[in-house]
Amino acid sequence: MVELIQKLYDTGNLSDEELKTLIADENEDTAAYLASRADEIRRKYYGNKVFLRGLIEISSYCKNDCFYCGIRRSCKSAERYRLDRQQILDCAEIGYKLGLRTFVMQGGEDAFFNDDFMCGIISQLRTKYPDCAITLSLGERSLESYEKMKGAGADRYLLRHETASEELYKKIHPEEMRLDNRIKCLYNLKRTGYQTGSGFMVGVPNQTIDHIIEDIRFLQELQPQMIGIGPFIPHWDTPFRNEKGGTLELTLRLLGILRLMFPKVLLPATTALGSISENGRILGLKTGCNVIMPNISPEDARKKYNLYDNKLISGSETAEGISLLRQEIEAAGYTVADERGDYVN
Ligand code: 5AD
Repeated sequence: MVELIQKLYDTGNLSDEELKTLIADENEDTAAYLASRADEIRRKYYGNKVFLRGLIEISSYCKNDCFYCGIRRSCKSAERYRLDRQQILDCAEIGYKLGLRTFVMQGGEDAFFNDDFMCGIISQLRTKYPDCAITLSLGERSLESYEKMKGAGADRYLLRHETASEELYKKIHPEEMRLDNRIKCLYNLKRTGYQTGSGFMVGVPNQTIDHIIEDIRFLQELQPQMIGIGPFIPHWDTPFRNEKGGTLELTLRLLGILRLMFPKVLLPATTALGSISENGRILGLKTGCNVIMPNISPEDARKKYNLYDNKLISGSETAEGISLLRQEIEAAGYTVADERGDYVN
């Protein structure tokens, strides 16, 4: 396996067969070696920096009905809320004081957050925090909408493709949702000039290694600036309530592989990874990740924005929470960056 990892390190690519072998390898020594090479290459471009992104969960309303998600429209038990303009500004202010220089406004696909509302809040944040990056994660919208929000001052956009396989896409989404539209949105975002993030869930029901290879090939084509992957975690009130979740080990292997394939990509150790294992996010950092997204939503919102069970809802919005996170990051041999943390070209 050392040869395969070396080849991936040297060339940034492997054949489908080789990838399959590496992804399926459950050996601990392989995992440790992959992590060390991934860490090596990440240090080459970003040193030991970890970038923090303040996540503001603006709405738990969603018009979509993805089978895996706890805020899907037909989830009756989901508690719905929307943050208002002032609440969003307050989150940003708290985050800024805590040293965060990227704000991510994420929410379900909620028509309330139309272009006028979004452009208003984006330009307010842009004026108030000229040294911060503004990231959006609001799902599929029109090209015009993406353009308007970019014009108002947004810098980045996160939209996971979820799976690049047409066949798997249909098994985890209702009929009315279309993979080709999602992919069109991703190319529109890139074209509009956003630093664009995509990604997928690991271990979603019916996913095979071949599907994962399709995801990797899609990412190689799209060349996003950010890649978000995390384990699927079942939510008790969704059709996937009785399914198995994705594992820590497979997620870490994929993170290592992605780092070697995309040396400069901004790669978060996601909340989902931190939710399935206490040490998950730190292990992610040691396997090539260089981003963590502490939640700075109001406490009540954090509880209601339940995409999956047992979501990590530690109080990282407090000075204490962030300083604990900083300590953990530093103990692992990294430093928290105090800049926006844009993609290096
Ligand atoms: N487990 C893990 N991740 C999930 N997401 C949605 N539902 C779940 C779940 N049950 C992810 C999706 C989405 C992101 C915001 O959260 O990939 O893009």
